[in-house]
Amino acid sequence: MTDGPSYGFDTLQIHAGARPDPTTGARNTPIYQTTAYVFRDAEHAAALFNLQEVGYIYSRLTNPTVAVLQERIATLEGGVGAVCCSSGHAAQIMALFPLMQPGMNVVASTRLYGGTITQFSQTIKRFGWEAKFVDFDDQEALKAAIDDNTRAVFCEAIANPGGYITDLDVISAITDAAGIPLIVDNTSATPYLCRPIEHGATLVVHSTTKYLTGNGTVTGGCVVDSGKFDWMASDKFPSLSAPEPAYHGLTFAETFGPLAFTFHGIAIGLRDLGMTLNPQAAHYTLMGIETLSLRMDRHVENAMKVASWLETNEHVDYVTYAGLPSSPYNHRVAKICPKGAGGLFTFALKSGYDGCIKLVNSLEIFSHVANLGDTRSLVIHSASTTHRQLSPEQQEAAGAGPNVVRISIGIEDADDLIADLDQAISAASA
Ligand SMILES: Cc1ncc(COP(=O)(O)O)c(C=O)c1O
Repeated sequence: MTDGPSYGFDTLQIHAGARPDPTTGARNTPIYQTTAYVFRDAEHAAALFNLQEVGYIYSRLTNPTVAVLQERIATLEGGVGAVCCSSGHAAQIMALFPLMQPGMNVVASTRLYGGTITQFSQTIKRFGWEAKFVDFDDQEALKAAIDDNTRAVFCEAIANPGGYITDLDVISAITDAAGIPLIVDNTSATPYLCRPIEHGATLVVHSTTKYLTGNGTVTGGCVVDSGKFDWMASDKFPSLSAPEPAYHGLTFAETFGPLAFTFHGIAIGLRDLGMTLNPQAAHYTLMGIETLSLRMDRHVENAMKVASWLETNEHVDYVTYAGLPSSPYNHRVAKICPKGAGGLFTFALKSGYDGCIKLVNSLEIFSHVANLGDTRSLVIHSASTTHRQLSPEQQEAAGAGPNVVRISIGIEDADDLIADLDQAISAASA
């Protein structure tokens, strides 16, 4: 499609980044199942390798199918560019990599997907990076945690598992004042419900494995670049603001301006870390994104019905869905995710850990899986699975205590989902 001045979300989710194949006229984006691309001549090859010309070299770095997906997600998020990679976890490393160096730290919210807490608290230490976890509702604690070695602040817009909504406007005001980039994981919200860049995010990361693909077929990730951060404003980000030895002294921020992070992500990140998304996976995700808004509206509608019903159930201790008027985060819905609080939340059973185990074993429509954001309704007992590696204190802080079950509400008939929960909760509480 040509660059339209004001196409709506529903149009962009189908058309952004895509155009009929110039060779065959194929209307759908072809899966360019190729590793390499023939150079026009030796001069063309040299120009590509010097980053003097943009084009395709080798599919570890760039691929036309993946490029459409990158442009699609960047457009939906309101960014200037995006880098797709092999998983959501890969996207988090790809986001941090140009910013961090040994001895530097990322300040992260305590309310994160359990795998991210483990990645940040354990694995990144091996790169010499450190994570400091803070309750992002405590502004003073966040300000105090940001020190001279902080290179990024990280949170989820709608946090997995509890559906807690981060006040991105408040957090970005703090990161702006500190001159530090804000990275927002927008996996649970998607750009249909929340656009973090409009709330001050520097980078947005996704596990495209979830709602963007939408039906549990492929893993993938994406880093979206707002293009708004001034990497030259301090000497804290030399990967972007200082000459790069691997490209004959080219300075990314000078050469690529607002696209510095995106080009670095491809030319250094994908080239050297190799966390590449394959074109087949990009195809599935492009298919999924075409119906994103329709699915998200239904996820939200169903989640609201199920959460409201759960709240009235005598065996349920509490429900965390931020769409409920009883939620302490309900007032943030209108501001941060005006089209709804998503489809992911937790509830606690009065029958505790054992009740939760019986519940997941008794559900019939809900699948007991380590995933979310599928058309199908999914359930997991976080404390015995995704959050198992965390200490009891970390589990509680992440909203994944032993009596808590996480559900990802699908797009089936809400009445069937309620009936399934009803029979399983009764079995769990008997
Ligand atoms: C919010 C969030 N971010 C990141 C990830 C990691 O994504 P992936 O499994 O695609 O690596 C997950 C996975 O569940 C997630 O829920």
